[in-house]
Amino acid sequence: MKRRHFSAAALAAVTFAAALPALAQDNTFKIGLILPMTGQQATTGRQIEAAARLYMAQNGDTVAGKKIQLIVKDDTSLPDATRRLAQELVVNDKVNVLAGFGITPSALATAPIATQSKTPLVVMAAATSSITEASPYVVRTSFTLPQVSVALADWAPKNGIKKVVTLVSDYGPGIDAEKYFKERLTFNGGQVTESLRVPMRNPDFAPFLQKVRDLKPDALFVFVPSGAGAAVMKQFLERGMDKAGIKLIATGDVTDDDQLNDMGDGALGVVTSHHYSAAHPSALNKKFVAAFEKANKGMRPNFMAVGGYDGMRVIYEALRTAKTTGKAMPSGDALLAAMKGQIFESPRGKMFIDAQTRDVVQDVYLRKVEKKDGQLFNVEFDVIKDVKDPGKTK
Ligand code: DHB
Repeated sequence: MKRRHFSAAALAAVTFAAALPALAQDNTFKIGLILPMTGQQATTGRQIEAAARLYMAQNGDTVAGKKIQLIVKDDTSLPDATRRLAQELVVNDKVNVLAGFGITPSALATAPIATQSKTPLVVMAAATSSITEASPYVVRTSFTLPQVSVALADWAPKNGIKKVVTLVSDYGPGIDAEKYFKERLTFNGGQVTESLRVPMRNPDFAPFLQKVRDLKPDALFVFVPSGAGAAVMKQFLERGMDKAGIKLIATGDVTDDDQLNDMGDGALGVVTSHHYSAAHPSALNKKFVAAFEKANKGMRPNFMAVGGYDGMRVIYEALRTAKTTGKAMPSGDALLAAMKGQIFESPRGKMFIDAQTRDVVQDVYLRKVEKKDGQLFNVEFDVIKDVKDPGKTK
């Protein structure tokens, strides 16, 4: 009798102990943030992680009674690693949301895991149009290349640029940029005389730029991913392309705020189109840039940072407003529903998560590199309001 009593108590103790981590876990909302922290895209990871941590420092780590835990993993920008890490985060860590995704192949490789596990996947960086169609659980807070490229193709022919050679990284976002820029420029009476593609990994721009010099277009249109812009700019200037009368026009990925200051005065006057500039003159952006620079000495936030910052906003707000029973953790489907249709002011300007496409609708700016207080900035001079991704097929 005594022994049985002891056993029951022991059993109860064991059961209680086993329930403890479960209880603790039930109250912890986990965000698995997969980023390239090393390798060619490391600046993307550094910017997004810094912005996510800033968002948490400013908004606290408790939302709707749940403790937020950020789990950061380095995929070194290799899609097989992204997929493996996502699988581990979902199965072992039981994350509530997957986020990050520095390059398109990483987002595409992980989309099936989001679908199978019904886990929202917040794309904070990658920008090929089709990513949101790879899973109904994808929500994007970055941008798309079609969205920003058409604005430049509208601007160019009105500013004396009729004949253009395009030079893009040979993968999803580059092919989107090439296609949408060319279609729109042609529609506007201009002409793309040659389309060049450079390898995504370890590109050597020299032979391509030599070819452009021989072709003598009015302008060279460039897309390369964040981090590669400085090399393009350097070689463009070294080859005297500007002196040969060839203008450089690009998506804002090239005059990346993370690298722009190191590009030197040769970058002055370069016109780009994009959704975010550290020089965006709103009160909210000034606060964001100041807080980011204070928390991260020597760094200036770029468009990747704002994608990460706004991605955290979308996740926090979803957790705050998702439908749940009592104190239960909201399901992936409830979180996804609460992400759709969010409208808010971002440091970039107004932004909106289209409930139908789960993609970002935002203002796109034309900018010119100028010097302000001794620093190079992308200074906005025109805006196209509320631009949807033109690449959506539905
Ligand atoms: C992608 C990556 C970038 O660094 C960028 O600036 C734009 C797009 C991508 O892989 O989708």
